[in-house]
Amino acid sequence: MRKQIAAANWKMNLTYQQAEKLLDEILDARIMPKPHQEVIFAVPYPYLLLTRSEVEEEYHYSASAQNCHHKKSGAFTGEVSAEMLHSVGIQYCIVGHSERREYQHEDGAMLATKINLCIENEIVPIFCCGEPLSIREAGTQNEYVAKQLEESLFHLDAETVSTIIIAYEPVWAIGTGKTASTAQAQEMHQYLRGVLANKFGAEAANEIPILYGGSVKASNAEELFSSPDVDGGLVGGASMVAEEFIEIIKALK
Ligand code: 13P
Repeated sequence: MRKQIAAANWKMNLTYQQAEKLLDEILDARIMPKPHQEVIFAVPYPYLLLTRSEVEEEYHYSASAQNCHHKKSGAFTGEVSAEMLHSVGIQYCIVGHSERREYQHEDGAMLATKINLCIENEIVPIFCCGEPLSIREAGTQNEYVAKQLEESLFHLDAETVSTIIIAYEPVWAIGTGKTASTAQAQEMHQYLRGVLANKFGAEAANEIPILYGGSVKASNAEELFSSPDVDGGLVGGASMVAEEFIEIIKALK
């Protein structure tokens, strides 16, 4: 079975003390993932090592960075490279979150270089895609999201692409409380898997987990994840409420 993943994205939230407390509360639920399931915490840089040491050994959960720089190393004050993340044992990194595309003006070509650096450093990129409201209203979301994949992933070979994770996060559903319907999510995920199959072959496309993100919560996770092409969620707000995230982990197929 394809990997089913509950991924938390804390964004720029929580103090160290709050982060420790939240992790403790979630870990106290003692949910052991099945072999085909993964639980990932994408946390701010200063909390990566705390998170990794708390979750990795006993629970087999993982810590993830929320970003890495698009250059290998050098005079880029304040930035963090994929190589640095690898050197402290981090195995996942979010690439191309819509907030970074919008506020840091990250474009498809830049994201392609980040994907390459992650892969070179044995980090699994969690590649985000998704359309803004205006595109959804115009009905051109499929072309828009397919182009995002094309710009940042189509230079890879089938074997490599089958190791990454994709997160479909419609911008209009992020932090708005407005969730894509289960049918809308399944429709897009199925479409994206078709785009990947056309380019890389069905075998590779079938291996790629496609997560849904955008106002996932305890009350809608099970229904969303029940769709055949929705392989879990990338969760913002609800991942910072222990009881919510615990239920979201339990909702994985
Ligand atoms: P919310 O779950 O808060 O809508 O955020 C989704 C998201 O952006 C996860 O990366």
